Amino acid sequence: DRSIKIAPSILSADFANFGLECEAIEAEGADWVHVDVMDGHFVPNITFGPSTCKAIRPHVKGVMDVHLMIAPVDPYIEAFAEAGADVISAHIEAGPHIHRTVQAIRAAGAKAGVALNPGTPAESVEYLLDMVDLICVMTVNPGFGGQKFIHSQVEKVRKLRAMIGDRPIHIEIDGGVTPETAPLVVKAGADVLVAGSAVFKGGSVQNPAPYGENIRAI
Ligand code: DX5
Ligand code: ZN
Repeated sequence: DRSIKIAPSILSADFANFGLECEAIEAEGADWVHVDVMDGHFVPNITFGPSTCKAIRPHVKGVMDVHLMIAPVDPYIEAFAEAGADVISAHIEAGPHIHRTVQAIRAAGAKAGVALNPGTPAESVEYLLDMVDLICVMTVNPGFGGQKFIHSQVEKVRKLRAMIGDRPIHIEIDGGVTPETAPLVVKAGADVLVAGSAVFKGGSVQNPAPYGENIRAI
């Protein structure tokens, strides 16, 4: 389905070559570039911050989709918007004021996403539906690439798609997306598929063709 967007996660890219990796995945058919920001506090891993996003920006022609796995979030929203993020997603579990956070993301000029950990119910976004552009359903516990897809989340996607109705909101799936799991979430109503290990496996900036094969297989 051509309306399904594939968003490779550069968490699985070569960290010494982010610019070239972004150019390679876009040339091989990626629709969005997914950027995982981790703080070693909200999640048990550390990646990078706004300055790295800013360095990547000129190498991304399409949508730069920034997934913030940090707490607190609010003090950093403007920095990520200024770094050129098109979409900024914050976790509903990252603090007591997700409504304020979503307002701040839009005020900073980015599209607003909310991300839900696997243990967080679909209903938790009910009062945010008129102010978000994207809901990111985590299908692994955030922090690491290459984990196994949590099947209970397919039902959550179905519930969210029904709750969303005709609002123009993307449902993004993040974690364990493979050619086997992708059709399950697409059928349930997802339209943006993040994939890290499944896209980058077997390829490199010197040999990017496997990226394209992997994207087309999803
Ligand atoms: C996990 C990140 C994901 C991750 C997905 O915390 O948010 O974006 O990179 O990696 P795979 O596709 O390998 O599960
Ligand atoms: Zn992510």
